[in-house]
Amino acid sequence: MNSDKKRFEKRGLDYPILDGKRTLPGKYYHSQEIYEEEVEKIFYKFWIYACRAEEISNVGDYKLVQVEDESLILVRDKDGSVQAHFNVCSHRGTQLCTESSGNFKSKSIQCPYHAWTYALDGKLLGAPLMTEGDNFSKEDCALKKAHVHIWEGFVFLSLAEKPEPFEVQMEALIGKFSDWKMDELRIAHHIRYDLKCNWKLILQNYQECYHCPGVHPLLSELTPVQSAQHDFSKGAVIGGFMDLTKERGSMTMDGNAAAPPVCEVSGDDLQRIYYYSVYPNLLLTPHPDFVLFHHITALGPGQIVNDCYWLFQPNVINDEEAQAGIKSAVEFWDLTNKQDWQVCEQMQLGTKSKRFTRGYYSGREDVLYALDRELLKALGHDDPESTE
Ligand code: FES
Ligand SMILES: [Fe+2]
Repeated sequence: MNSDKKRFEKRGLDYPILDGKRTLPGKYYHSQEIYEEEVEKIFYKFWIYACRAEEISNVGDYKLVQVEDESLILVRDKDGSVQAHFNVCSHRGTQLCTESSGNFKSKSIQCPYHAWTYALDGKLLGAPLMTEGDNFSKEDCALKKAHVHIWEGFVFLSLAEKPEPFEVQMEALIGKFSDWKMDELRIAHHIRYDLKCNWKLILQNYQECYHCPGVHPLLSELTPVQSAQHDFSKGAVIGGFMDLTKERGSMTMDGNAAAPPVCEVSGDDLQRIYYYSVYPNLLLTPHPDFVLFHHITALGPGQIVNDCYWLFQPNVINDEEAQAGIKSAVEFWDLTNKQDWQVCEQMQLGTKSKRFTRGYYSGREDVLYALDRELLKALGHDDPESTE
């Protein structure tokens, strides 16, 4: 067994680490046809992140989630469960709801066109002037549902008719980070970024720190680039961590912790920042004192919306004296995010050139090579490595 293979097996990675492995061809970031395949085979099939449970905490609270052409209504039902309905009236297909979030005060969902009315669980309650009979039954006209799974306060949905069990796709996440008790954390801040780049470039950027010395001088001071380690890749989850230089430090403008450690975080986790890609649309970054995450919504091959959230313990959010710490964490990541978005948008422009064929990965970008393989597998495409 060669030493590279031993090295990657020790770290639990699925793919060997070698300098000089090649990137995907540029078309994977620009082709409308490949993008449409990604929508069908990945976004409409995988479990994908939708929203935080706290965003729809009361009965009747809802949030609309857009997955390419599909609009979903995520709503808190009377029994406390979260339902995900396709935003389509069973009568003649009118979109039921257009406000991005709110509360169904009547505890029902009414179509604006001919006033068909649905319960929060999707059952058709009333269809004016229509009589049930041989050709029409209310039972057949419930709203169509997507599958829902809540993990640590993160609501995931799947548009597949029969999705792979959540625990299979996300095996590597289950039990990981339980010390953070993320379901108890709350959103302290949110920033929306509109970006002109392919969704995969954001995932790639997130999973390597080869770019950090030049792009992120402050981040590189707080967490040395050499400390970056990938701890595993399994299915849809690829992750790693970096060590903090300062004792009781964090990713803030002055490098000091923004707040006391989150819940039961202890030991090595007090000195680490974890970076986990939850394929295809969630980037999760647990710090000792807060959790940062990115929710990526693709709007085409060259356009995304990236919603970035900062989660803190509720007592920290409500503490007047803790506001400076939260602000510093927000400022640090907003600065770092913008540094990343700049290079991602430039990469989007450069990879469109006819002169860009395929690039060369360094050994520090091994996980990107793994991510590319996951993509090719999901699309059922031949690996360009083997067909060249
Ligand atoms: S289309 Fe919804 S009630 Fe007619
Ligand atoms: Fe970066």
